[in-house]
Amino acid sequence: MSFEFSYQNPTRIHFGENALENLPFELSIFGEKVLLVYGTGSIKRTGIYDTVMECLLKAGKTVKELSDVTSNPTASKVYEGIALSNSFQPDLILAVGGGSVIDCAKAIAVGACTTKDFWDTFFVKRESPEDALPVGVVLTMAGTGSEMNGGAVITNELEKKKYSTQHGYMYPVFSILNPKYTYSVPQEQMVSGICDIISHLMETYCSPSDDDIITDALIEAILKNTLSSARIAVKDPYNYTARSNLMWGAMLALNGILDFGKMEDWMAHQIEHQIGAFTACPHGLGLSAISANYYRRVLPYAPNRFARFATNVFGISSEGKTETQLGYEGIDALESFFKEIGAATTLSELGLTTESPLREMANSCRRLQGGYRKWTKDEIYALLLESL
Ligand code: NZQ
Ligand code: ZN
Repeated sequence: MSFEFSYQNPTRIHFGENALENLPFELSIFGEKVLLVYGTGSIKRTGIYDTVMECLLKAGKTVKELSDVTSNPTASKVYEGIALSNSFQPDLILAVGGGSVIDCAKAIAVGACTTKDFWDTFFVKRESPEDALPVGVVLTMAGTGSEMNGGAVITNELEKKKYSTQHGYMYPVFSILNPKYTYSVPQEQMVSGICDIISHLMETYCSPSDDDIITDALIEAILKNTLSSARIAVKDPYNYTARSNLMWGAMLALNGILDFGKMEDWMAHQIEHQIGAFTACPHGLGLSAISANYYRRVLPYAPNRFARFATNVFGISSEGKTETQLGYEGIDALESFFKEIGAATTLSELGLTTESPLREMANSCRRLQGGYRKWTKDEIYALLLESL
């Protein structure tokens, strides 16, 4: 198979323990008014808030704050941010936090540049934004890759729908990545981020083309490094190399560079988003809870892909095994790894113990073309049921 691509990624990345030294330069590019967006308190506890605020004030900025952005950010928070933005008219939105804070900032950035309803227009109908305010990022946790992509995921808490959208206007203009900022991330959230990185890599890897293209080799290398860095970070959260690898790996896993030549799947994510809409669970743990069963259901459509995964990622010997046997062993190894690092491998670990919401979850799930197969609503329901 021949493949073609065009690629541009406009986000400037500043990476390393001194990365924040680049913030004054970045701030100098924009006007006086900054809307500072952050979460539910971690940046105040870690001191990152004070450091960033000092930079902003030194740069002569007028700052308004939107705080209390929760994990799985809500549409109502975005509406609040759009209203604030419309009255304040910021020159820059500065998101300081993890994927939730960044996604909320991105949704405000496009929502503030239209008179249309942001949820219906960009997240339900997925229309293109007319314009966007610039978003800058100081990242405090590794996982989503939102710091270098044009995607955002918002939960409409009234409709119980967690939907994603993406557009070129939503790439951050700059992102500051200091691995040391991730030291204080609670273990459960760190593990969630790790599972998210792995899932982003798998969503692309487990899809055609099955020709031996560079993309597959790159993904295998990052998967292997993520597994080994995760094992180190779980035992030694202050290991700078492991934390750097995870932060860098997360950025690479979803900045578009690993999509070339691959159809991509993304159905595990669509299913997890509805689990998140009903439970508000950490995104990566929703993914780890369904991933093994998900891939066991994909394997019969592409045994060679999963055999390759078992050998090249987990180093499992192929001797005397069919591709199918080997493939299942690879998926078992992935599930064991999730258990080893303390990730959920069932939905009940996320507090979902009854079957009652599963049908609605399955029915409200966005169904994409998928990588090797298209899922029916009944199959999604069956997957959720067996993952309870
Ligand atoms: O509320 P705050 O104070 O920010 O605390 C957060 C939150 O409680 C905390 N935290 C973050 N950095 C910390 C820290 N605590 C201590 N020290 C630090 N340095 O960790 C908790 C989780 O943060 P959150 O931002 O929710 O996590 P994550 O980065 O995993 O983001 C998850 C959201 O991103 C979406 C997910 O669906 C979910 O809504 N995704 C976004 C994507 C994108 N835009 O490309 C792709 C992903 O597939 C994903 O769907
Ligand atoms: Zn994800």
